[in-house]
Amino acid sequence: MSSTQSLWAGARSDRTGDVLGNLKKIDVCIVGGGIAGLTTAYLLLLEGRSVTILESREEIGAGETAYTSAHLSSIIDDGFARVESIRGRDIAKRAYQSHAEAVTLIELICRKEAIDCDFQRVDGFLCVADGRDPDTLDEEEAAANRAGAAPERLQKVPCKHFHTGACLRYANQARFHPLKFMAGLAKAIRDLGGRIFTNVQVNGIKGGPMVTVKLEGDRQLEANQVVVATNSPIHQVTLLHTKMAAYTSYVIAAEIPPDTVRDALIWDTQEPYHYVRIQPADPVTGEPELLIVGGEDHKTGQAEDQEERWKRLEEWARKHNPDITRIRYRWSGQVFETLDGLAFIGADSGGAENVFVVTGDSGMGLTHAAIAGRLLTDLMSGRPSDLIEVYSPSRIPLRAAGTYVTENFNLAAQYSDWITGGDVSDAKDIPAGCGAVIRKGLTKLAVYRDEDGQVHEMSAVCPHMKGVVHWNDGEKTWDCPCHGSRFTAEGEVIHGPATEGLKSLEARKPAAVG
Ligand SMILES: Cc1cc2nc3c(=O)[nH]c(=O)nc-3n(C[C@H](O)[C@H](O)[C@H](O)COP(=O)(O)OP(=O)(O)OC[C@H]3O[C@@H](n4cnc5c(N)ncnc54)[C@H](O)[C@@H]3O)c2cc1C
Ligand code: FES
Repeated sequence: MSSTQSLWAGARSDRTGDVLGNLKKIDVCIVGGGIAGLTTAYLLLLEGRSVTILESREEIGAGETAYTSAHLSSIIDDGFARVESIRGRDIAKRAYQSHAEAVTLIELICRKEAIDCDFQRVDGFLCVADGRDPDTLDEEEAAANRAGAAPERLQKVPCKHFHTGACLRYANQARFHPLKFMAGLAKAIRDLGGRIFTNVQVNGIKGGPMVTVKLEGDRQLEANQVVVATNSPIHQVTLLHTKMAAYTSYVIAAEIPPDTVRDALIWDTQEPYHYVRIQPADPVTGEPELLIVGGEDHKTGQAEDQEERWKRLEEWARKHNPDITRIRYRWSGQVFETLDGLAFIGADSGGAENVFVVTGDSGMGLTHAAIAGRLLTDLMSGRPSDLIEVYSPSRIPLRAAGTYVTENFNLAAQYSDWITGGDVSDAKDIPAGCGAVIRKGLTKLAVYRDEDGQVHEMSAVCPHMKGVVHWNDGEKTWDCPCHGSRFTAEGEVIHGPATEGLKSLEARKPAAVG
């Protein structure tokens, strides 16, 4: 998919599923084979349900789960002070507890299923960003204490480097290797009788006493209950998409001499913030110890300086860790931010009967996945849960109304792309391996020139709700700035809410460049 590579992708594990046969009626259908889908499937199987997972890609875990930095944390990314100010003290407390229990649940699954995925409990440190006043930690420390997270204030992260000044230490956080975990979880699911089918694209879901799941090629099947775990929901046109915003986040993994950085999770108070952790050396693959550093987030499809962003991350990483020898991996991925920093997990907000959803990861999609597993299992089994209110997909937090309006102004502004010119006026101005939007009369074309010089012309109009896609030169993808749909250079859909690719116009041999 991309010209970059995530460090996790090289894990030696079989993550392919089976070929879907002529299945007509099933009990539970999970759409999406990421960590949210698989964790929910696993917990439902333990309840004795019959579960089928449908995944559009060749392998499970190839969506955003393959692009994570894999911090497992109970500390709310957006800050306890923010959650408390929007949702109140009690919800902030329940959110903290649910994330702490999520880390424990992942640990228990690793232990029960003997999944060797480098799971390790570590401390987490929230540091004051370069040049900021340490007093900025006061408000967060007080809110964290009210939520029950009980941080300890230190003058510095206790390790050789990272001279960032004051920080809050949170005990009992964790880290793991996400794709080793996914491979182990897939095996456990199969051992429990669950079915995993890959290369199955779901194009629509219609709620009812029996839910209809529409598949590619005019096929369909019926399920008693369906969980939409496609990261961004593919069954709703609007609703949830107006309550969250897609952001692209950048990551590098750098070689460091062994044991020079403490095995911990580290964040700072920069906006957007930096996030850091260690991945230990892997004796099986020969991979050395790596320092993972992420940040430089921007709204998806709304930046063109991907190279600069990776460069700034490297500068920041080297400043705080002069021992870095070289950058081994770099990649980017997408997160969906909600107004209050908590995911949407529960019964479908559009009222589709027997349809459940998990989305709005807010940069904490791994722990939100475990929370979804617990909460959806309770809901689908008709049990009460104290988390229904915390994560309700129907909520609109009134105290975040200002942010809601700003996000929707930003969304409306993206549609002005319809009346602007293109990036270039002619395909001959596009270098090999690059793409650009070209205006053609009243419409816009997404034009990609491949490495062999072949020009691929597609409509630049996103099939979801007609946003105009932008070229992402870092990942060689077309990204929609409206709700985060993404497409390969040649127009195939790789991230919803779109369920189909960019409309292709015929490929043609171009005139030579220049
Ligand atoms: C750079 C980065 C850093 C991050 N760091 C952290 C972190 O430190 N801690 C943390 O908790 N979270 C982090 N996150 C977020 C977290 O990784 C994700 O939220 C999480 O992995 C998403 O899991 P998922 O199962 O919801 O989605 P995915 O992994 O994207 O899975 C969804 C699956 O659905 C499939 N699918 C989509 N559409 C269809 C369809 N129409 N039919 C069938 N299948 C379909 C996709 O192919 C995909 O496999 C990070 C994310 C990024 C990008
Ligand atoms: S993702 Fe909604 S218009 Fe493109």
